[in-house]
Amino acid sequence: MLFKQQAWLRQKLLVLGSLAVGSLLYLVARVGSLDRLQPICPIEGRFGGARSQAEFPLRALQFKRGLLHEFRKSNNASKEQVRLHDLVQQLPKAIIIGVRKGGTRALLEMLNLHPAVVKASQEIHFFDNDENYAKGIEWYRKKMPFSYPQQITIEKSPAYFITEEVPERIYKMNSSIKLLIIVREPTTRAISDYTQVLEGKERKNKTYYKFEKLAIDPNTCEVNTKYKAVRTSIYTKHLERWLKYFPIEQFHVVDGDRLITEPLPELQLVEKFLNLPPRISQYNLYFNATRGFYCLRFNIIFNKCLAGSKGRIHPEVDPSVITKLRKFFHPFNQKFYQITGRTLNWP
Ligand code: A3P
Repeated sequence: MLFKQQAWLRQKLLVLGSLAVGSLLYLVARVGSLDRLQPICPIEGRFGGARSQAEFPLRALQFKRGLLHEFRKSNNASKEQVRLHDLVQQLPKAIIIGVRKGGTRALLEMLNLHPAVVKASQEIHFFDNDENYAKGIEWYRKKMPFSYPQQITIEKSPAYFITEEVPERIYKMNSSIKLLIIVREPTTRAISDYTQVLEGKERKNKTYYKFEKLAIDPNTCEVNTKYKAVRTSIYTKHLERWLKYFPIEQFHVVDGDRLITEPLPELQLVEKFLNLPPRISQYNLYFNATRGFYCLRFNIIFNKCLAGSKGRIHPEVDPSVITKLRKFFHPFNQKFYQITGRTLNWP
């Protein structure tokens, strides 16, 4: 009887012991992960370096995780809230100018993981749309999300990269603005562009040409440079227009293909370019096998993947057309590497 009681007691103690060790391990893991998101004071010590925009108060970081998120979503903070928290609507200090289907949304969302970055959720199309542009810079500023003065606002409108008037207009707003261009291997980007249009047509029950028919001129059997998806992929041609207004140092090229497979190093390069302290970590990015893409983790509770419209399945394209397009883009790519100083090893 005594032996039975002792065994029962030993078993109970074992269970309680395991529970205690388990809870302890959980707490250690949780504190470890929170530490990566909510910095421990003093902030200055962690960021190091001189006082700059890279430094911002602790409450700004904490605020971003909570209330500010709501403000950004609704864009309608009350006057009292704005006054209480010194919130402002700031013109962007950096713009993702393109390229369409390069991964512009993923880049914006991933940069928004940084506590010093506040994204404009919608594409504003201020500089490429004459009607919007005529409304003036105050209209544009009012479209920006609320932020702390120490934070930077970033917007993305991929049409900026290819629209004639945009470089001059952005220059007039801020000649020292930082410009981000995210590119993908040009043929893949063109097919992605086609896939998006195709999906739109299918939704409206409209028929559409095959990619091969659009990308190759049936009369000459050469690449059809009148086809917009092809023209957009001639990155160097567009960039040359921008260089009439901005020096190359004001641009940063993001490798959109690498952002898909290995986002962190690409984001770290952007942090450096924007003079931001490195705050985005592997913890913030996790691979979702169902989606086949990296998704975003803001904290232990809040994570999200991009919408289903990002990461479409491309139609199969005749390999000879792919080869022809790659050969066509090759010299333009070489020029692009030479101008930007970033070699991307495209075929
Ligand atoms: P595909 O749909 O061709 O795969 P944009 O936002 O400029 O329209 O770019 C869309 C592309 O972003 C997608 O093209 C997809 O490959 C890419 N992308 C990069 N990272 C992604 C991510 N984490 N989740 C979903 N799509 C991502």
